[in-house]
Amino acid sequence: MSTVDGSGAGAAGDARRAEAPGGRSIASLVTEVARRFDARIATANLPVYRASTVLFDSLAQADATGRATMAGVRHASTYGTAGTPTTHALMDALAEVEGRGHACRAALMPSGLSAIATALLAFAKTGDHVLMPDSVYGPARQFAQGMLAGLGVHTTFYDPRIGAGIEALMRPQTRVVYLESPGSYTFEVQDVPAICAVARRHGAISMIDNAWASPVFARPFDWGVDLSILPLTKYWSGHADTLMGAVVAREALWPTLWNAVRQTGLCVGGDDAFMILRGLRTVEVRMRRHEASGLKVARWLEARPEVARVLHPALPGHPDHALWKRDFDGACGLFSFELRREALPAGEDGPERGLAALCEGRRFFRIGYSWGGFESLIVPARIGSLRTATPWSGGPLVRVHIGLEDPAELIADLDAGLGAMRTA
Ligand SMILES: Cc1ncc(COP(=O)(O)O)c(C=O)c1O
Repeated sequence: MSTVDGSGAGAAGDARRAEAPGGRSIASLVTEVARRFDARIATANLPVYRASTVLFDSLAQADATGRATMAGVRHASTYGTAGTPTTHALMDALAEVEGRGHACRAALMPSGLSAIATALLAFAKTGDHVLMPDSVYGPARQFAQGMLAGLGVHTTFYDPRIGAGIEALMRPQTRVVYLESPGSYTFEVQDVPAICAVARRHGAISMIDNAWASPVFARPFDWGVDLSILPLTKYWSGHADTLMGAVVAREALWPTLWNAVRQTGLCVGGDDAFMILRGLRTVEVRMRRHEASGLKVARWLEARPEVARVLHPALPGHPDHALWKRDFDGACGLFSFELRREALPAGEDGPERGLAALCEGRRFFRIGYSWGGFESLIVPARIGSLRTATPWSGGPLVRVHIGLEDPAELIADLDAGLGAMRTA
């Protein structure tokens, strides 16, 4: 349950500490996981293993390890694609941090998008039906409409606010119920427990893209999801320098997931795994800053005459604020705001000129399609072609990622941008 709301209450660490499994708060958990290893010199960080070849002393040992690797036994590896001590440590850490007391296993992929694709390919087969929220990350929609459709898997896009009403969309062939909460660009919070309960009753698998909440602010397995998809590129890395994804699955689903990972050869290198483990150590403290600064900037934007509304679930005026408060432990630094059309310059190309003036030449906010790093970013969110079940009828939308800079300077930067927009 969230202890921060848009009215300005700060983080309440005590409540979160008390709720953490095994008596550990998330702040302690992320610094401590994946440090149990054998070494003659016990360094604070794990060594980086770079490996394709794994060597054996006997054929019997090689055969036994091969069988264990195929079966997905923890830490078994005949070859670099099945993992090394560095990647295994990250897999264990992800399962523990994301699983938060639930028995889970994690597989690593080279990007968040490849994690989405692998999870869907592993569980949806020809003739199956998939349900996806209309607010889903654009490339996930394209994957469903492209490769999945080509394989004979049909996808229906649903209103992300459908809640238990998803029952009406379930078919005998529905195999996967996909979720992303809050949604990309428009930040609808989904009633994940209600949707997962329906999926389970119908024998379907639920999977969520849990990028927004970071490792700190959500417990998707408490909500009832079967798989959590993690774009580690974002807050887990936190430094805009590493691409990686993961799928964390309940134990029972691990064999199917691991089978897909082994068949596709998806894997990551030790150096990148090390970078994610390093990012993990500081994620809790980074997230508190993203959260606090994000709320400051969001509230400032709310009061601006150029802004019609701010789409940030931690603001009390957000339509899903109560749901966010019920399910999340906090908010990250990513949100959108909708501009009033009348605040943009007149003329056919006025809106585009206005958006360019707002986004270009800022001191701190750079134009970039990612988020979750230390830096602030801004992009117009052109979602017209990305919505089918719930078409977007609002004004121009701008997405910002609030980084770790001083929020007063970020506000001054946006102030200059909105001024430039009006006179463009
Ligand atoms: C919500 C969401 N999911 C998944 C991804 C994909 O992650 P990656 O960039 O690592 O492929 C992104 C990337 O922007 C995203 O915003």
